Amino acid sequence: MNEHNKTSHPPKQKPSWNNLPTKAARIPEKFLPEVLQYARIRDCSGSGFEVVINLLNTLTQDELQQIKVAIDSLVLDDHKPAYTANRTSTRDDDNLGEIQLSDTEKAAYTASFGFVPSKYQLNIVNWITQSTGNACCNAVAGAGKSSSLLLIAKTLEQLGVSPYEIKVCVFGKENSKDLIKKFGSGWQSSISTLHSTGWSLVKQELGIRGGHKIKISSKKYKDIAVSFGLIRGRNSRNSLLTSNKIVKQTDVFFKLLDLLRLCNLNPTVRNLQNLCEHHNLEGLIKPKEAVYYLDKCLQVGEQQAANKICFDFTDQLWLPVKWRLSNSGWLKPYKFVLVDECQDLNAVQLELVCMLAGKSGRILAVGDPKQAIMGFAGADCDSYAAIMARIQALELPLSICYRCPTEHIALVKKLFPDIAIEPSPTAQSGTIHQIKKEEIMDYVQDLDMILSRKTAPLVSLCLKLIANKKKAQIKGRSIGDNLRKELEAIENDIYFSWDEFNLSLDTYFESKCATYKGSDNEEQLTENLKDKIDAIREIYRATPHAKNVKDLELEIDNIFSDENAPITLSTCHRAKGLEAQRIFIYEPQHMPMEWRGQKSWQHGQEMNLLYVALTRSKSELFIVGECKWYKPECTQQSDDEQEG
Ligand SMILES: Nc1ncnc2c1ncn2[C@@H]1O[C@H](COP(=O)(O)OP(=O)(O)OP(=O)(O)O)[C@@H](O)[C@H]1O
Ligand SMILES: [Mg+2]
Repeated sequence: MNEHNKTSHPPKQKPSWNNLPTKAARIPEKFLPEVLQYARIRDCSGSGFEVVINLLNTLTQDELQQIKVAIDSLVLDDHKPAYTANRTSTRDDDNLGEIQLSDTEKAAYTASFGFVPSKYQLNIVNWITQSTGNACCNAVAGAGKSSSLLLIAKTLEQLGVSPYEIKVCVFGKENSKDLIKKFGSGWQSSISTLHSTGWSLVKQELGIRGGHKIKISSKKYKDIAVSFGLIRGRNSRNSLLTSNKIVKQTDVFFKLLDLLRLCNLNPTVRNLQNLCEHHNLEGLIKPKEAVYYLDKCLQVGEQQAANKICFDFTDQLWLPVKWRLSNSGWLKPYKFVLVDECQDLNAVQLELVCMLAGKSGRILAVGDPKQAIMGFAGADCDSYAAIMARIQALELPLSICYRCPTEHIALVKKLFPDIAIEPSPTAQSGTIHQIKKEEIMDYVQDLDMILSRKTAPLVSLCLKLIANKKKAQIKGRSIGDNLRKELEAIENDIYFSWDEFNLSLDTYFESKCATYKGSDNEEQLTENLKDKIDAIREIYRATPHAKNVKDLELEIDNIFSDENAPITLSTCHRAKGLEAQRIFIYEPQHMPMEWRGQKSWQHGQEMNLLYVALTRSKSELFIVGECKWYKPECTQQSDDEQEG
């Protein structure tokens, strides 16, 4: 029973930080206080000009001089930046083009991108402007991969290539929104995730326009399965999948429906067995029958899509490839396809990229194999190598981490000796602090980012921060949507009672865990479920006014967001590609996550997640709690001495 029932709901939490910099972390640290002040004044409708002038007043003559050059280079020549796109390189000893930039060019680059490109980055620009074919960049975290894509896209535009002829494929909706802001509205249709690109192609193929009402449902294939009597539904008590012992539990059937599409595979016994083996999926008893029903569901799913009735998220990626839209006649290949985070492409995404470029377009894909973390969602664990081979790419080097301070890189190198990550020569030393979990409230401030391997700790921390009047949100509406789905299932459980909410959670947890019993990956599934149930329990605890499940759902909507909040909490998966001055690694003992029956590729991806988390910070790293992989220097020294 919820002890603190109140009658009214608190107003929906609305962000009041309209003008806070969205990628604030990319601003030089020195200017952070001024930028924040500027954002706040803008929020109160103050004059931006005044703030800029105040800021300029604080700078030295040298700094003002640099800014003057940068501004001159921007306002001259019809507002075109004064860096030169088309340069010939002279070869130096290490076979890299050494391109000399004038001071004006350096200033113009700084004004446009916030940095002067390295010789590696200029070499990539050189390759795109003067060579042919495809290329890949395999580089460590923070080496400027995403920044290079921006550099290239802008250079191509400067050379007269229209943004409409360039496709920039990014990871995650937030990244695409962020890039569009940086590139300008003219790039709106050029920058997108592969998901939304696939969806646009499907819509175009089917002539779906804005006015059309199209159903997008994550339950689409469940509804189809109900219609075949494969699982129970409102009007059908049949559950052929389990009564005919095709599968032990129905989850595996739906996971296979997703994976077959994401991995671009036909339903065959061999493919099902391989997927089950690779993903540790348990409970497939009769593969032949499963193939038959999977095929039937996919056929109906495809038909529903062709008739514009219903789609699910995976359809949006799968159908353009399944329908071979590259042969459609109307799909004009892009001249350039730039792909970020290519180490996490799944097979169907890779096909989509190739389709976008067609026979004539050129592909540049950037990625870091050590940051491959999406294997669980069907990404090819060796995606970087797969894309290199598929597009016959030339490999262009990009080394040196521009993001992380030397101390953080030293820790990364100690933990991952095989990763050749080096700090930039101008990197600051940075700091690493280890603090206690209960101390975090005293440390966290605006613009910080808090990372955790699991969702539940973020939920409880986020609620605490909000209770302490700090503006915090958890990145990723889709994580919230997953919690809502679980909550829906809990509410539909026959033993559910709102008055005994916590007990209902326990009962649901136990009965779902019972279905995992005996599977190789029992521990992993149980851990995942526990994380979700704990998160829901936290939300219930912190929402004493809640009168029903709907109220809890509202709270979920409040705390999970795709927008940037002053304090961002994020799972390590979501933090890919992001950065902040100060990063907190919360509950570090859960990294790398380990479970009984873990496959070696899964362990590899858990280690990659730790690497991702440790390479997000630009100046300070806080380790919140104890863990096996970090001991403060003094302890480390005394341990070493003892060993010696
Ligand atoms: N040549 C450069 N000189 C100085 N700073 C740079 C340079 N190139 C990029 N940066 C800065 O380095 C940081 C990391 O860049 P970016 O995000 O492009 O790296 P990345 O390789 O994409 O990282 P990740 O592996 O996390 O995706 C950013 O703050 C960016 O502005
Ligand atoms: Mg990046």
